[in-house]
Amino acid sequence: MDHEPDSAMNIRFDGKAAVVTGGAMGIGAATAKKLCKLGASVAILDRNADAAQAMVHTLVNEGHTASFQVCDVAVESDVRRAFDAVMQRYGDLHVLVSNAGIQRYGDVVGTSPEIWDETFNVHVKGCFHATKFAIPAMLASGGGAVVVVSSVQGFTAMANSAAYVAAKHALLGITRSIALDFAQQNIRANCVCPGTIDTPMLHRSAERTGSPQKVIDSCSRMHAMGRIGRTEEVANAIAFLASDCASFITGTTLVVDGGLLIPTGGMAFQKIGIDTGDEG
Ligand SMILES: NC(=O)c1ccc[n+]([C@@H]2O[C@H](COP(=O)([O-])OP(=O)(O)OC[C@H]3O[C@@H](n4cnc5c(N)ncnc54)[C@H](O)[C@@H]3O)[C@@H](O)[C@H]2O)c1
Repeated sequence: MDHEPDSAMNIRFDGKAAVVTGGAMGIGAATAKKLCKLGASVAILDRNADAAQAMVHTLVNEGHTASFQVCDVAVESDVRRAFDAVMQRYGDLHVLVSNAGIQRYGDVVGTSPEIWDETFNVHVKGCFHATKFAIPAMLASGGGAVVVVSSVQGFTAMANSAAYVAAKHALLGITRSIALDFAQQNIRANCVCPGTIDTPMLHRSAERTGSPQKVIDSCSRMHAMGRIGRTEEVANAIAFLASDCASFITGTTLVVDGGLLIPTGGMAFQKIGIDTGDEG
């Protein structure tokens, strides 16, 4: 029973090193913090140097082992250099959380080729680059776990978000390919699909509308639980999938959405109900 954790759900990462892309803010920052608290040494790869530095400063002050590399995940040479630096610093790599992402809007007619490419370069190529360099490092470390952050928009679509929706769908495919190709080399790959989460990305999107609170309130109503999610709630799911407690789980998706995907026709439709006519 080699893989049986000591107690039923003892999630720990002592002696393990993890990379979190987009770890300076939002879901990535909460994940970096969670993995640190569970004993991992964490490297944040983020293009926002100031935010990454501030996050690492906080983690180190709390007594954790953390570092950052300024890196645009869309640029292969940046990612290669960042992983080289992480391996030099920590010697091993066991966990990759591929999380860096941007939100862009437009239907296919209104989306410029530049916005399409930018969206795919960050989400899809960024994940390709991160896994391309993480997996050899994990193999050299005896195995590891990849967790890719997609979205409920990996299965469904929001209006006016064609490039984002397509990119999030693509991440499910990358995850399944990695899971299959490396299953027998002790590498697992899974996807987390969040609903609406309270992050800087959400607030930036809400502010575009001119009435941000209205947007947040209507997002809350979309979820069966009646609220949006907290970054820590996604970080918990990521930590579980990255841990030995998920040792027989690979190639799957874990939806973390407060019930967003449950109601046929959406929550508003559920509230109105189905007009059954006069049954008398
Ligand atoms: N917030 C939500 O409601 C929500 C829902 C579903 C999925 N997601 C996904 O979760 C992930 C994190 O989202 P968030 O809401 O925390 O976003 P956020 O904007 O709050 O934080 C994203 C982080 O990624 C970094 N980043 C962006 N582009 C990068 C690049 N090219 N290279 C390196 N770093 C880069 C940013 O600097 C930032 O630190 C994204 O992939 C997003 O699509 C978010």
